[in-house]
Amino acid sequence: MSQSRDASTSPLGNPNHAIDLALFGALGDLALRKLFPALYHLDREGLMPESTRIMGLARQEHDATTFRQEVEAALHKRLKADEQDKVSLKRFLGRLDYRQLNFTSAKGFETIKAWREGAPRPMVVYLSVGAKIYGDICHNLQASGSLDDETRVIVEKPIGSDLVSSQQINDAIGAVFPESRIYRIDHYLGKETVQNLIALRFANPLFGTQWNQNHISHVEITVAEKVGIEGRWGYFDDAGQLRDMVQNHLLQLLCLIAMDPPSNLDADAIRDEKVKVLKALKPFTGDALGRDVVRGQYIAGTTDGQPVPGYLEEDDANTQSQTETFVAMKTEVSNWRWAGVPFYLRTGKRMPEKLSQIVIHFRQQPHYIFDPDQRGIAANKLIIRLQPEEGIALQVLTKDSGLHKGMRLRPGPLHLDFNSAFPKSRIPDAYERLLLEVMKGQQYLFVRRDEVEYAWRWCDQLIEGWQNRDTPPRRYPAGSWGPVASIAMITQDGRSWYEDY
Ligand code: BG6
Repeated sequence: MSQSRDASTSPLGNPNHAIDLALFGALGDLALRKLFPALYHLDREGLMPESTRIMGLARQEHDATTFRQEVEAALHKRLKADEQDKVSLKRFLGRLDYRQLNFTSAKGFETIKAWREGAPRPMVVYLSVGAKIYGDICHNLQASGSLDDETRVIVEKPIGSDLVSSQQINDAIGAVFPESRIYRIDHYLGKETVQNLIALRFANPLFGTQWNQNHISHVEITVAEKVGIEGRWGYFDDAGQLRDMVQNHLLQLLCLIAMDPPSNLDADAIRDEKVKVLKALKPFTGDALGRDVVRGQYIAGTTDGQPVPGYLEEDDANTQSQTETFVAMKTEVSNWRWAGVPFYLRTGKRMPEKLSQIVIHFRQQPHYIFDPDQRGIAANKLIIRLQPEEGIALQVLTKDSGLHKGMRLRPGPLHLDFNSAFPKSRIPDAYERLLLEVMKGQQYLFVRRDEVEYAWRWCDQLIEGWQNRDTPPRRYPAGSWGPVASIAMITQDGRSWYEDY
């Protein structure tokens, strides 16, 4: 098969994108909760060519029939009633097959080779398993002769727990697959509004001309979750919020906000610009760690009015753990576009709302002529909401109406709510978009090796700083917006977190 079909770089993609998907970890939580529903939607939308086949691989003793039943049950649970139609379900389930496999032993991998014998489509291997065994699986696939020079591999985060371990994992994958066929998932890049950042920034001259330190005073990125650890204590306690959320999702959002315009939409043009941002992130030196970074851990509190336990009281908890469930920080991108513009990042578990949003605060007018007491509100904000509802609002100032109001200002949104503005279009889940892009051989929504490594480099100095200081995380009650110190961190700059929730 030709190389061009494998790694097409046109953003319009390869229309003929039939594949064979080998899904490792096919009975795992991610597969049942996210991947099968996403694949089903692609099929239902007519985006999965007739010939595409899906092979589930897991340790459990199943045959194809019991596997299909399990996937069907998961789909019934996850899909809305009006998304389930018999014809689509039957067609989708008919694509599935299953093999029991011990992933770390070479024995048995020839089953994949046999499945692929003579197949005219490229294979996509999805590793929905822990990163520690990515290398083993890649090696076993190669040793069994199951791969050809068109096979692509999809890997999930977290890739390692620091720079060194991520390099080892990337080396192991790289020993088998070239970078052009490795698709590292950060599911935030598949969210519709995140992709919209590229359109918003680079298609609208209105913003293009304003997007720099002359016009923007500061940027906020908040990714708040209402949930706690959800039975993942073991994984989470080794990671913490910095590794679990900042190293990947928040830094990717920051890159898309801060990067320079790429020369085109090719994967490498975009990723080259993101890497420049990661390289320009200011390290936390001297007092900055204590002053500009707040780590938190939730204690018992309430969620939706119901009492919930603290982090150290969750099932399987190590009661001495000092792992952070919240991080807030002030950082800067040291380049001409952004010099002097703080980026305030904040993310935590057990916050009052599930909320992901970016707020761009524009500078005030150089000369102010309205009531002195309104000076603080007299600036525009662009609010980009990723979830719960996706939308963009530009906060503008107008005159407050009424005979008694004089020239009082009133901030109000020019608002674009995707669900009501485009009611007919369903907002696809991030995994639908990402899986479709892999089928097409498009890498622009996936993370390149150097991005992962520069992000780790920056996070490593933070983690090292925390270890050297050995100060415990600050407590915050579940259901609050984090430790008081995270509010003090921004108010000492004369600002506040944008609170419209
Ligand atoms: C994952 C993290 O990457 O993202 C989880 O490992 C987190 O801890 C999840 O809950 C949040 O994703 P989303 O799409 O629900 O914001």
